[in-house]
Amino acid sequence: MTNWSDYEQRITRAQSSAELDAIDHELFSRKAGLMTEALKALKDIDADKRKETAKDLNMWKGKLSSALEEKHKELGGGNNNDAFDITLDLPTQERGHLHLIPEFIRKVEEVFGRMGFDTADGPEIETEEYNFNKLNVPSDHPARDSQDTFWIEGVKNTVLRTQTSPVQIRYMLEHKPPFRMICPGKVYRKDSDATHSPMFHQFEGLMIGKDISLANLKGVLVTALTELIGREVEFRFRTGYFPFVEPGLEMDMMWQGDIEDSREGRWLEMGGCGMVHPNVLNNVGIDPNEWQGFAFGFGIERPLMIKHQIPDLRSFYEGDLRFLRQF
Ligand code: DAH
Repeated sequence: MTNWSDYEQRITRAQSSAELDAIDHELFSRKAGLMTEALKALKDIDADKRKETAKDLNMWKGKLSSALEEKHKELGGGNNNDAFDITLDLPTQERGHLHLIPEFIRKVEEVFGRMGFDTADGPEIETEEYNFNKLNVPSDHPARDSQDTFWIEGVKNTVLRTQTSPVQIRYMLEHKPPFRMICPGKVYRKDSDATHSPMFHQFEGLMIGKDISLANLKGVLVTALTELIGREVEFRFRTGYFPFVEPGLEMDMMWQGDIEDSREGRWLEMGGCGMVHPNVLNNVGIDPNEWQGFAFGFGIERPLMIKHQIPDLRSFYEGDLRFLRQF
């Protein structure tokens, strides 16, 4: 004979809903529950005892069922392991975002794209011919000194490109004017200080047509850079020498802002620009008597430093999340 009061005690002591479910199953499972079986067995009991046994069983059936129900309610209050606690605060999902540099590159492509500029690409391992010679910088040219170069060991006349300008050459060899293109990418030089890094980013631009002038150059650059910086900034153009343009200019931007910095109020050089030198056009088979245009090459880190008041360019590459999460 089953001792029903043992079950009653087990129910009272149960610690979890799972434990209760197991007892419930043991007693009331349709197939082999103890109570189910006992009730089924009533028909085999002598008629004189049947009534009393049935009464007793029904009493226990009711008692155990309500004990189970009560205990379920009690455990459902939150101290059991398998109930859902809808008040629990789950950790919020962390979402990543683009690093400042690729984000800026996308913006460059978008802003110039709206002005009709095609986005071009070129290799980071470049030939000396494209990185220097065809850009009017022969091997004995003093301008090479300013671009301390990483030469590729064992591969003759090959460099990590020191500028994005060789993409001008590649583009002009493959396309017929008129055209407008920009090319963002990585460049490499043996430099390292607060405003120079051995790897940094530039974007190059080129616009060739029948009557493109310095006025167009100024208009395009001031419009695009104002939009890229996201606020009115003071720019200035001054003459500068680059062998692949004539005349050549440098474009500076005023370093403004709230941070205490010795550069406050000083001009920061953004990049070079000018009218494409006739020698360069000749080098790629474009007739300089028929076509003319401008080119420009800008650092990407510099406008970002101004925009976000970042005093040291090396912070971009250190991968310090405390720095990166600010933007
Ligand atoms: N490539 C030059 C540099 O890295 C920048 C530059 C100057 C690019 C004048 C140009 C340009 O396209 O016209 O210093």
